[in-house]
Amino acid sequence: MVIILQTIHGSITVGSLSFLAGSFQRMQGLLQGVMRNFARVSEMALYLQDFFGFLALKPLSGTHTGQLKVPRPIRQGFEFEGVSFKYPNSEKWALRNLSFSLRVGEKLAFVGENGAGKTTIVKLLAHLYEPTEGRILLDGVDLNEYEPHDLRREIGIIFQDYFRYAFTVSENIAVGNIPERGNRPMIEEAAQKSLADEVIAGLPKKYDQMLGKRFSEGVDLSGGQWQKIALARAYMRDAQLIILDEPTAALDARAEHEVFVRFAELIKGKTGVLISHRFSTVRMADRILFLEHGQLLELGSHEELLAHDGKYAELFRLQAKGYV
Ligand SMILES: Nc1ncnc2c1ncn2[C@@H]1O[C@H](COP(=O)(O)OP(=O)(O)OP(=O)(O)O)[C@@H](O)[C@H]1O
Ligand SMILES: [Mg+2]
Repeated sequence: MVIILQTIHGSITVGSLSFLAGSFQRMQGLLQGVMRNFARVSEMALYLQDFFGFLALKPLSGTHTGQLKVPRPIRQGFEFEGVSFKYPNSEKWALRNLSFSLRVGEKLAFVGENGAGKTTIVKLLAHLYEPTEGRILLDGVDLNEYEPHDLRREIGIIFQDYFRYAFTVSENIAVGNIPERGNRPMIEEAAQKSLADEVIAGLPKKYDQMLGKRFSEGVDLSGGQWQKIALARAYMRDAQLIILDEPTAALDARAEHEVFVRFAELIKGKTGVLISHRFSTVRMADRILFLEHGQLLELGSHEELLAHDGKYAELFRLQAKGYV
């Protein structure tokens, strides 16, 4: 099970980021396995920078020694209790006294300006960091109590800056679940579900097409095409919580709608978190959490927040008129 790639510390040059899942240690081992499969040494060298980035990753700042298995199925969901958070080496509060619940089966959207703290909440949910103050509970038990690898295995994250590997198409998709990298039917099914198959159909070597311009025979994709590949990674796993962190920034309106329809299918029956700047997308969630400067400003369904007539309602109306 695999994959978490994140520039957790600013010092790490993994490049941009990707799909988050299983364990770091196992990922490293598996990636070494994957890399051994690449015979040509000159190609290997191109991966090394990223690879050493993985080795440098430190997922947790604290001493996390939990032993509990994540409940399957999760019964209640996640609970933030007065959570405040500062990044290491930062004096600024990224989150301040945040309390809310993410109920099992619920689709919750986070909205707020750049830097409001949306992605930070996701990192805390995945236990990449621990709260500076307060606690996060899963089914009533502190996240610290859970076995870290197990926790990450159950949370799939598609980040806004997903990782563009200089691998083939099928390898790029298999990154969502590396032990299944040889399972072509599973990879093709994931690609169909994410609509990546339409992109792949147009590539000269289809699933064996090398991606990225670093190789002479490599083909680079547009932002929207890459996103469909990144979304396919999520279909390779069976996580209980799926988080989509603004995946559609590079998509046009029609492509965005398609991706969200696919995402809705992906999270059917699961707990989902959706981060987007587009209110037309956000309103599809059961509830919306409006963040401002790391603090919870408003929380409720789209209708409730419109009736509340606060900042969400104001911004929604502005965006509906095409002003924002
Ligand atoms: N690795 C980091 N180290 C230090 N500060 C950080 C780090 N990542 C984010 N921050 C800070 O934490 C705050 C919240 O950032 P976060 O990325 O959660 O915002 P966001 O709501 O996801 O924004 P966007 O809409 O631009 O994605 C910001 O002030 C940001 O500068
Ligand atoms: Mg963000």
